[in-house]
Amino acid sequence: MRNRHSAGARALYHSPRKYSSFSTRESWVNTGKNTQQTRLKRFLSGGHKRRKTSVFQQDTQTGLISVILITVRYGTILVKNDLRGAVSAIIKTPEEIEKMRVAGKLAADVLTMITPHVKKGVTTDELNTICHDYIVNEQNAIPAPLNYGHPPFPKSICTSVNHCICHGIPSDKKLKDGDILNIDVTVIKDGYHGDTSKMFTVGKPSILAERLIRVTQECLYQAIQEVKPGMRLGDIGHICQTHAEKHNYSIVREYCGHGIGASFHEEPQIVHYGKPGTGEELLPGMCFTIEPMVNAGKRYSKVLPDQWTVVTKDRSLSAQWEHTLLMTETGVEILTLREEETIDRVISHS
Ligand code: MF3
Ligand code: CO
Ligand code: CO
Repeated sequence: MRNRHSAGARALYHSPRKYSSFSTRESWVNTGKNTQQTRLKRFLSGGHKRRKTSVFQQDTQTGLISVILITVRYGTILVKNDLRGAVSAIIKTPEEIEKMRVAGKLAADVLTMITPHVKKGVTTDELNTICHDYIVNEQNAIPAPLNYGHPPFPKSICTSVNHCICHGIPSDKKLKDGDILNIDVTVIKDGYHGDTSKMFTVGKPSILAERLIRVTQECLYQAIQEVKPGMRLGDIGHICQTHAEKHNYSIVREYCGHGIGASFHEEPQIVHYGKPGTGEELLPGMCFTIEPMVNAGKRYSKVLPDQWTVVTKDRSLSAQWEHTLLMTETGVEILTLREEETIDRVISHS
């Protein structure tokens, strides 16, 4: 997930609190291609109020279209605001979407492949090696975490055990009975990223641990079920937060989901707490992750001296699940769905 405060996954441009408070939006569309122009027109004049009131002009010299209220560059929505600076979300072309499907499937396959290996006595470094070799040799893909960020992440997957919230570095420590862990896999295939994670239990986990894991997955699933054009970022956050807090758990705020595509971490940031009806609007063609991190205790986190490992401050257990999603015209497609899951891959609200 994206680190919202420090060097980690990627530095933060702005405070997410300001997400809901922008008033002027401006964007540019390079409509070299007619299809892009048509698409833009369609979505600007679409059902939503904000789009209806949008106007745009084309600069005949540069081919750039400037739009008042909402702005789109060829494939990119740029949202500008005095308080926040520019935030952009990339609207994927059909060709890019196809590549996202492939990358998403590969990332999901890695989690499925590694599942039988997660058991008592195995080290997280051994799990890392198995995943690395599978991604590189079988999938002819690239493990995105390896050398990512500053300092460079040293391994090919993240393994976050027990009170580790995220970005755990695989090590020679053996898994033991009762451990819970998250394995987070991101692959790059043909230039595009698929990012997904799931929870595992080792031997017999406590009732509390199992409940935490289940509720965290419910946060993800409930949010996914509601994703459709016109949904706002605050709605996603609200769904996750409400469900976690209903069970007396807390949502981690320093790390969040993210846009994804040719880059690992793109705009927008998808925080897992918030108020309904606030924040940026989701549009068809966006790809992003939802990846709630839920603590059994307080929400506070700290980063270990290795500058990556994030743990709960109170050492309470933490769980996380993640999917990469595509916004469609009517709902959502889960690009990283695994066969073991019961939720539908394509959810349509029309
Ligand atoms: N996979 C994480 C995410 O969901 C990011 C991990 S960054 C790494 O965004 F460098 F630790 F791999
Ligand atoms: Co992610
Ligand atoms: Co991830």
